Amino acid sequence: MQSCTLIAPAKINLYLEIIGDRSDGYHELAMILQSIDLADQIHIQKSSIDSIRVRCNDPQVPIDKSNLAYKAAALMNAKYPEAFIKHGGLNISIKKRIPVSAGLAGGSTDAAAVLLGINLLWELGLSKSELEELGARLGSDIPFCIAGGTAIATGRGEQLAPLPSLDNIHIVLAKYRSLEVSTPWAYKTYRQQFRSTYIQDRESLAARAEAVHSSNMVKGILHKDTKEIVQQLHNDLEKVVLPEFPIVLELRETLTNAGVLGAMMSGSGPSVFAICESKQQAEEVKSHVRKKIPDQELELFVAQSIAHGIQLAP
Ligand code: C5P
Repeated sequence: MQSCTLIAPAKINLYLEIIGDRSDGYHELAMILQSIDLADQIHIQKSSIDSIRVRCNDPQVPIDKSNLAYKAAALMNAKYPEAFIKHGGLNISIKKRIPVSAGLAGGSTDAAAVLLGINLLWELGLSKSELEELGARLGSDIPFCIAGGTAIATGRGEQLAPLPSLDNIHIVLAKYRSLEVSTPWAYKTYRQQFRSTYIQDRESLAARAEAVHSSNMVKGILHKDTKEIVQQLHNDLEKVVLPEFPIVLELRETLTNAGVLGAMMSGSGPSVFAICESKQQAEEVKSHVRKKIPDQELELFVAQSIAHGIQLAP
């Protein structure tokens, strides 16, 4: 195989609770993650030149060594140097649809696709769980991007417990194109403001993470009860991002007032998603918001929950 093309879906957070600190500087989280059909396309081609090259159609995306997809290829190169010598370099081409720095795991899903693609091109035979373990070294969201569907994520976000998939959730997704929120900034600011509420002892931390398994959100998912899911939407990072970026709060309010079931920021933002009754309602809400906020900077998408992570393009 000389090349392959993969579809790399975005994710939204239906639930994000910050439970406490970790000794590695990260936070203990309890999250519920959902893949959506808004996706990037990643083409990976073996190259005769002995190097890794990244290209992207979106100038907002860096194509140097700081790109997470580059880092994924570099990690595979470091881990399997014989395969790199045997198969040569890699040209990675990213067709971006997922908004950048949006809290939608756009960079993580591209990196996840690169891990899966190289596994195929170099015939390494790594299992999904081995790839997830490699992915976790690069970013907390990468294991979920590989697994996809609907899942509880604890620890840093890399420990996954799959849930029955929700394939009928219709959303409108909104993001101001050049507004970026740094994830390290969001978590750092949260720590500064809410550290006193963090659970300290290890047993209570583990119990809190465990409790998410029997939460009302999980019950809503098990019963495919969209109204219950919407009632349980929660994201602790809204407490620091919305006051700092009032434009995101306004966007969230515009969506909420458009007659949707519920709206919330995804991850560290600044994208906001709104859950709708149907695809038709999602299309109507998209048009309504476009009229209310005619700013061309505002990107709007209609998307749907899906039951899988990275896949080979058909
Ligand atoms: O793992 P990832 O590189 O995506 O995380 C980005 C940043 O978000 C981390 O450097 C850290 O500042 C913050 N973070 C955190 N706790 C987590 C996940 C991320 O504090 N569980």
